[in-house]
Amino acid sequence: AVTGPLELDALEAEARERLSRGVYDYVAGGADAELTLAANLAAWSRLRLRPRVLRDVSEVSTATTVLGVPVPTPVAVAPMAYHRMAHPDGEAASAAGAAAAGACYLLSTQATMSVEEVAAATPDGLRWFQVYVVRDRGWTAELVARAAAAGYRALVLTVDVPLLGNRLRDLRNDFRLPTGLKPANAPPAAASRQRELAADVIAQAGQFDPGLTPETVGWLAERSGLPVVVKGVLRGDDAAACLDAGAAAVVVSNHGGRQLDGVVATADALAEVVAAVGGRAEVYVDGGVRHGTDVVKALALGARAVLVGRPVFWALATGGGAGVERFLAGLTAELRLAMALCGAPAVGDLTPDLIA
Ligand code: FNR
Repeated sequence: AVTGPLELDALEAEARERLSRGVYDYVAGGADAELTLAANLAAWSRLRLRPRVLRDVSEVSTATTVLGVPVPTPVAVAPMAYHRMAHPDGEAASAAGAAAAGACYLLSTQATMSVEEVAAATPDGLRWFQVYVVRDRGWTAELVARAAAAGYRALVLTVDVPLLGNRLRDLRNDFRLPTGLKPANAPPAAASRQRELAADVIAQAGQFDPGLTPETVGWLAERSGLPVVVKGVLRGDDAAACLDAGAAAVVVSNHGGRQLDGVVATADALAEVVAAVGGRAEVYVDGGVRHGTDVVKALALGARAVLVGRPVFWALATGGGAGVERFLAGLTAELRLAMALCGAPAVGDLTPDLIA
């Protein structure tokens, strides 16, 4: 793959030119005053590295495993709604780009292509399925069974959207899904109603269940036969409760600053969660991860892998699947360089002492 320096500002600017105002704002924006959106980025920047020297970094490997499956990079694609807003080939293209870069791909429940269509596009790529549990539990059970049958290797239960955050940009823009697009995996009633609804209320239209409890984790595992990763945890006690309920892993996430504004930045929440988990399960993190040095910091603090959101959307909008591959390969190349410069030839060498 072609790799060059990651020009993320230019990538976003190019995507912004191509996308409608409404779509750009839907992706770029956060909740309320967007304090958390900014805080996520700032928190990674604030951390300082303590690199080692004289550690023979002539061979550096970014390879690791996630839930026991070998992957060449700890960078994964965060689940994001509606990829066909970025590119007509939608999730099939982003998933193919991720597979080409060796990155695990997390398909959103709110995808604009079905779980089967995306699986067919990347039969060999490592794919996980992100679940929003809706009030119709029968329908949810059917959907996760379909994901299991289509070769998704884990479920990612998103728990930070009992109700949708207050996204002011979308309200001001009266944002709606572009004509012709619909959530391909939504319950039929919600999918047929989506045209009338602003995107802000698609969550409610999809009847997300605000009544989830830790028992939901075991229920999903039983229904799907898959490991369940809980996404949207910011506290050690919650992480421990998820594991007690049978979770295979947790994602430290604040939904990219799109839900409760003013919450702790994920880089700052990570250590508490890692400590509470105490090696019993894998911990992943997302929110503002943009460069190889951010990935180094995340792994040094105990994350097994990182998820990246918005830049993948910009890469898809500007370059389709090849653009996604280029971005993910570029980020992995930055990670490899940062590891070498930290005196850490393997991901196992990324330990907390690297953080000042
Ligand atoms: C999201 N996110 C998200 N999360 C989820 O579990 N299900 C979803 O359908 C979506 N949809 C979605 C759409 C868009 C446009 C964005 C930007 C984000 C949250 C996402 O998985 C992730 O937590 C954050 O995006 C990570 O932060 P960064 O990398 O975008 O800063």
